[in-house]
Amino acid sequence: MDTITGQLLSFIEKSPTCFHAVATMKEEFLKNGFTELKENEKWSIQQGGQYFVTRNGSSLIAFTIPKEKMKGIRIMASHSDSPCFKIKENPEIEAEGYYIKLNIEKYGGMLCAPWFDRPLSVAGRVIVRDEKTGALRPILINIDRDLLVIPSLAIHMNRDVNDGYKYNVQKDMLPLYGEIASKDSFMKLIAENAGVREEAVLGHDIFLYNRQKGCVWGAAEEFLSSGRLDDLQCAFSSMKGFLEGKKKQYMAVHCVLDNEEVGSGTKQGAASTFLYDTITRAHLAMGYTKEDYLIHLADSFMVSADNAHAVHPNYTDKADPVNRPYLNGGIVVKFNANQKYCTDGISAAVFRDICEKAGVPVQTFVNRSDMAGGSTLGNISNTQVALNTVDIGLPQLAMHSPYETAGVKDTEYLVKAARVLFS
Ligand code: CO
Repeated sequence: MDTITGQLLSFIEKSPTCFHAVATMKEEFLKNGFTELKENEKWSIQQGGQYFVTRNGSSLIAFTIPKEKMKGIRIMASHSDSPCFKIKENPEIEAEGYYIKLNIEKYGGMLCAPWFDRPLSVAGRVIVRDEKTGALRPILINIDRDLLVIPSLAIHMNRDVNDGYKYNVQKDMLPLYGEIASKDSFMKLIAENAGVREEAVLGHDIFLYNRQKGCVWGAAEEFLSSGRLDDLQCAFSSMKGFLEGKKKQYMAVHCVLDNEEVGSGTKQGAASTFLYDTITRAHLAMGYTKEDYLIHLADSFMVSADNAHAVHPNYTDKADPVNRPYLNGGIVVKFNANQKYCTDGISAAVFRDICEKAGVPVQTFVNRSDMAGGSTLGNISNTQVALNTVDIGLPQLAMHSPYETAGVKDTEYLVKAARVLFS
């Protein structure tokens, strides 16, 4: 397995939820000598300094201040969340007085079918009350074993299922947790994993995740599959390129935001002030004025990095007739006339120039004109911090499945492009 793919898969494995993705990045930035800033403390920022700040434990912005006079800002933005199922309050439901299943609801728009008949577990955060001080604090949890399965209904009991089936999450998709002897043990298990008593857990954000580890496959080992490639493949590549870039004349910003899959409209999402607050606070702490910030912003560039659809070998008619991205074909620039993607002639040209300097191939994505496409965080973020932006992504198949597929070469292409952006 080539090293970048190995690093990517281990990054994803350590990051079963958005909270863990932020913790994984935090660890990496501390290892690389970055200083953590807290939003509720005064910031002290130095020329040549490297910092990061988190919001809600699920969004992270890392930035560096150039040693030389600042010319502008370079940003790469991606997202930390992926579609999955969230555990509801009062999670246990009895069935037949014999089984215990868990009550779940959808987070984001996922493909439902691939969640069936595979080992799953839960991870997330709990908010606990410290028994000595009474203070509330978050603790990350991950039940690191095969814990749950959502069993399919046998073909004999629904002969028509292969002609198409409309999944009802409340009825069809509740995961089996145990037999009745395990009643009332789920929250105990969670508390135990957090190292506290069950009574100390006052709140939780717990999600299902696929236990199947990422792998490399194909005739020439050219493909990889894993959960959460959308968008941890971009978050990982952005982080790596950011750390390796020279970051000489520009404020460099690696930005990974939560809640893209549910429209970004949260305090830590792309529609929030998190990016604006971070950049302006860094400016004010450096002694710059609001006008300096606006001057810098006018000479800035953002890459909004969120995975893209490759042409599917079984559904070749679903793609535009000529803009047809393939796995391992390079970074995909996304276009949309209605500006669901921010790319325009200028930002496309700037990004193509970056990729040429980085020596990496570029492909183009545009929806078929008779199909509505997805959306992403670039145009939403631009309503808070307005700057030249290009929407790009790495080509993948099975987007929003708990086991997605990508090409082994493309991660490195984005790392190289990010390195040039940040140099
Ligand atoms: Co995405």
